[in-house]
Amino acid sequence: MKSLSYLNKYLFKYKWRLLLGVVFIIISNYFGVEMPKVVKGAVNDFLKTLDANMAFQDVLMLSLKLAGMYMLLSLGKGFFLFLTRQMIIVVSRYIEYDLKNEVYAQYQKLNFAFYKKSRTGDLMNRISEDVTQVRMYLGPGLMYTINLAVLFVLAIVTMLQINVSLTLLVLAPLPVMSFLIYWVSSKMNRLSKIKQEEQSNLSTIVQESFSGIRVIKAYLRELETRRKFDASADEYKRKNMRLVMVNSLFMPTIIFLIGLSTLLTIYYGGLLTYDKEITPGDIVAFVFYVNMLTWPFASVGWVTSIIQRAAASQARINEFLKIVPKIKNEEKGSLDDLDEIRFEGVHFQFDDADKPAIQDLSFSVRRGETLGIVGRTGSGKSTILNLMTRQLEVTQGSITINGKDIRKVNLDAYRSRVGVVPQDVFLFSDTIRNNVAFGVDTEEATDEDLIKVCKTAHVYHNIMDFKEGFETILGERGVNLSGGQKQRLSIARALLRRPQLLLLDDCLSAVDTETEDVILRSIDEDYKHCMNVIVSHRVSSLRMADKIIVIEHGQKIEEGTHEELIAAGGVYAEMHHKQLVSESV
Ligand SMILES: Nc1ncnc2c1ncn2[C@@H]1O[C@H](COP(=O)(O)OP(=O)(O)OP(=O)(O)O)[C@@H](O)[C@H]1O
Ligand SMILES: [Mg+2]
Repeated sequence: MKSLSYLNKYLFKYKWRLLLGVVFIIISNYFGVEMPKVVKGAVNDFLKTLDANMAFQDVLMLSLKLAGMYMLLSLGKGFFLFLTRQMIIVVSRYIEYDLKNEVYAQYQKLNFAFYKKSRTGDLMNRISEDVTQVRMYLGPGLMYTINLAVLFVLAIVTMLQINVSLTLLVLAPLPVMSFLIYWVSSKMNRLSKIKQEEQSNLSTIVQESFSGIRVIKAYLRELETRRKFDASADEYKRKNMRLVMVNSLFMPTIIFLIGLSTLLTIYYGGLLTYDKEITPGDIVAFVFYVNMLTWPFASVGWVTSIIQRAAASQARINEFLKIVPKIKNEEKGSLDDLDEIRFEGVHFQFDDADKPAIQDLSFSVRRGETLGIVGRTGSGKSTILNLMTRQLEVTQGSITINGKDIRKVNLDAYRSRVGVVPQDVFLFSDTIRNNVAFGVDTEEATDEDLIKVCKTAHVYHNIMDFKEGFETILGERGVNLSGGQKQRLSIARALLRRPQLLLLDDCLSAVDTETEDVILRSIDEDYKHCMNVIVSHRVSSLRMADKIIVIEHGQKIEEGTHEELIAAGGVYAEMHHKQLVSESV
């Protein structure tokens, strides 16, 4: 339960609304408790009129008066109930909104090391399922608890005034009911948790089969995938049926117990009337009160289980909010234009790896230079780029930006000067325009800029081939681009940021050598003033680089210009030779 205290700051934030909510609950219940009194009066008055043989006119007037009063009271009760909900339930929605934003902001803060460890389904659950549980506590949970407290005091006082022993007798089954409901609710919770796990399993299967549909079809695994889905759906149904079973016990239990209380009221109340201790109207009023108290008492059990669930959810949320991102931007200072980036004896090891991915790596790149990084697959090229943008933190050694340690540099200022084209392209299901302009604020990008970068990336003519041009929607329902087109769009996106440091991670692998040459040449011309780092395992792409480093097993094994490295006759020369041969073939 301690976990829920985290929400106090929000409750405090909306304290006036909540307070007003409590006032409205009191008023609403006051009207509610008055209603049976009218009925009681009605019964007693009618009994009297029967005895006194009153004229029809008078009976009619009496009826109208009583009915009118009852009507007024119920209108009052309803109106204030409406206001209560407007306050308390609305506050719970506000807090839900605040909390979701807080969780989402934390998601954006966390580094990608965190995302590698977590399943998408779990991440989604935290912001949807867990926050919903917490809202149930804040809304209905809080409202019913306050309601019960208020009603309990008002109703019981009234009942005790009528008759003490009758009150005690008819209230006896209510705590039993609270307990039973609590028991049923906990069972339901346990089952619904099991059901939810299966549901998230099911959605993972669905999600993966959508995103992997091409592979599934290419490998003819449709039937297999369907079977997997079938099995999971079946399991889901089975678990859901158990929940439905318990669920269906819920209302009958309540109704049975109300029946029991009513029975006791009539039986014992009848005896008391005979002794003239209470009037027949009192019996009717009692039946009303018992019915009125039933749901609040039932809600004790229900609310208890809501609170338990919310506490568990909030504990998960708290744990998550507590995570401090390993890589934080604590520097606020400004940053000069990028002049030089230097790696000095850099080591890097992934948390779950047993040997370092990068070892003792030193090199530098200056403004106006193009650095080529080449190496076999898995040699550590992408890791170097991730270190360079500080997506990963060096384990040993240092990286300096303009001579200043990267950990001491304002990360936002630094990253805003960097254009990255990652190895696996990611495009949003949005228009081509928005995809290219993703890295800049929309006002910043004029049409000329957009066209210019697309021409540099050699993708403009492809875009113009679409009927809608830049407005073409990409993604699930829109057209799909070819692998090479996606890569070039991704390059255009990076160029539009007018980066001072441009990182191209093997982003022309799906483009033929000639086009690649054209693109690299135009980048080289247009972006002379900036630092370019080009990763490739095609040696030919790096010919015009000012400096090339060759990486193997995370270590630099050769360094020099294209000509120097060819002349040296090492690994680079060998790769060059092999690639030349295979190309001419
Ligand atoms: N998140 C990770 N956790 C553990 N090891 C990783 C992780 N990412 C990469 N590695 C390992 O680090 C090494 C270098 O990976 P990296 O992605 O830098 O290679 P690369 O040179 O870019 O390869 P490619 O040319 O195929 O893109 C590989 O051995 C890889 O298995
Ligand atoms: Mg890579």
